[in-house]
Amino acid sequence: MVQQKPLTEKGVRPVNAVDQISTSAFDGQKPGTSGLRKKVDVFQQPHYLMNFVQSIVNALPLDQRSRLVVGGDGRYFNREAIQQILQVLVANEVKEILVGADGLLSTPAVSHLIRKSGSDGGIVLSASHNPGGPGKDFGIKFNNASGSPAPEFLTDLIFENTKTIDHYLRFPLPELQLTEGAEYQFGNSTIKVVNSVSDYAELMQTLFDFDRIRSSMEDGKLSLCFDGMHAVTGPYAKCIFSELLGVPAGNLLNCVAKEDFGGGHPDPNRVHAKTLYEYMMSDHATDLGAASDGDGDRNMILGNGAFVSPSDSLALIAEHHQCIPQFRDGLVGVARSMPTSTALDRVAEHLNLPCYETPTGWKFFGNLLDQGLVRLCGEESFGTSGDHVREKDGVWTVLCWLSILAETGKSVQQLLTEHWTRFGRSYYCRHDYEGLEAEKAQAVMLGLVEHRDSLIGQSYGSKPIREVDVFSYEDPVDGSVSENQGVRVKFDDGSRIVYRLSGTGTDSATLRVYLEQIERNADSLQHDAIEFNEELGQFAHSIANIAGVTGAAEPSVRT
Ligand code: G6P
Ligand code: ZN
Repeated sequence: MVQQKPLTEKGVRPVNAVDQISTSAFDGQKPGTSGLRKKVDVFQQPHYLMNFVQSIVNALPLDQRSRLVVGGDGRYFNREAIQQILQVLVANEVKEILVGADGLLSTPAVSHLIRKSGSDGGIVLSASHNPGGPGKDFGIKFNNASGSPAPEFLTDLIFENTKTIDHYLRFPLPELQLTEGAEYQFGNSTIKVVNSVSDYAELMQTLFDFDRIRSSMEDGKLSLCFDGMHAVTGPYAKCIFSELLGVPAGNLLNCVAKEDFGGGHPDPNRVHAKTLYEYMMSDHATDLGAASDGDGDRNMILGNGAFVSPSDSLALIAEHHQCIPQFRDGLVGVARSMPTSTALDRVAEHLNLPCYETPTGWKFFGNLLDQGLVRLCGEESFGTSGDHVREKDGVWTVLCWLSILAETGKSVQQLLTEHWTRFGRSYYCRHDYEGLEAEKAQAVMLGLVEHRDSLIGQSYGSKPIREVDVFSYEDPVDGSVSENQGVRVKFDDGSRIVYRLSGTGTDSATLRVYLEQIERNADSLQHDAIEFNEELGQFAHSIANIAGVTGAAEPSVRT
């Protein structure tokens, strides 16, 4: 380990050197589905970030400010933001601060480091799959001591603090070199710069059989192509896939992290990971193709000629959990977010396991995981993870699929077909209406609630609508209630339309319409999910009067 000298003369500055900076509240520092996300120039305003960080600190009880982790996805402004955050944390006398080298840590790696080091929490800098660079997006969120995104009571408290803040504390640090192994002491705080990858890579080796996967690869029975999308997973992929599993370097695409993600959207889907997608649809494809997002928590799974919808990926991991050493003792329970397809429910029923339905947002899985009620969770938004961390985990999901392929010796397409034949197929896709005025998007949701009685009895083809409700969730662990989490239109045969407003945008509103039809006929399992749901999407558009209320004639994205 390189031990760098502290940059101050004696390395210690008296606590009374702390500056108390007068400030005033900024409007709109309300954390959304996953923390506070804004255009980067909003964060670059003087005091903006420091106000928010002080509001986080103020929300923590005094005995929960001893050790914190800080890291980000390396996007534009990550470096400056970390320096500012360290100034506030040192001034607030956080005793130990663990920072990823160069300020880099993937979101699941932060979650693991918090848990491993017994920290009181951590600060993650990321706007996930949103683009980065000047004029693009930035974000910050707080994770608690179990490594989970802060629950609503805490994000509410942070938001209340941002509305009344009139000063923050700042320790005027010199610019710190965040080189691995460096250790600094200022006031009552120690700052330790840790390797961004090694703890996480060690954890993965305890959860999966690396020898088994590696030997399948060496025998030429299993191959992987991974797209890091110029984002934070690059170094993780090099260590885990290349060095530990022997994937050839040429099969790791875009694995050099860049501040602007190479100008693209670091969003692992068929549109933004187009090169990988086209390669996997070609004749020379590897057995598995995968991509991860800006901060390494999302994943896309592809087979040779096959796209695995995130909802199916979750259901298949549950079905084949015995192939994954982490789950060999059983899953106990599973969970999915409400708009995620019900494919998981059918596997859970077969395995005789409880299946929980939570609101959108990984934080809602936290209590279930902490209490040991579930061991596997996932969301339609390209997220899957287990009980090893409290975030979704892209690289981990790829390792799950490598394990399943190595153990079963089957192709991705074969596994999908067998799954659909056994459990029926949830044809699933999402229509997004982006760039809407917030009031109009709200009006669509209100209109649906207002007219819900008149929707009962209407039919889509031969499918009558059985029920329309507004999803509300009572957390079975702490009893907290989250209302207004989307409108569900349920049909007699289990098919569904779900309407929900996105909580991750940085400017205009996005209405998401989730479409699911369940098909059990063995001759009808191989259609394209987007085409299969096109008409249902038109029905959804019409019963919600989306055109009348917002002027949007059709969705801007079908995914
Ligand atoms: C983030 C969260 C996910 C959530 C997603 C929903 O990625 O980490 O848990 O599923 O946002 O995004 P939306 O834009 O639909 O609110
Ligand atoms: Zn992400």
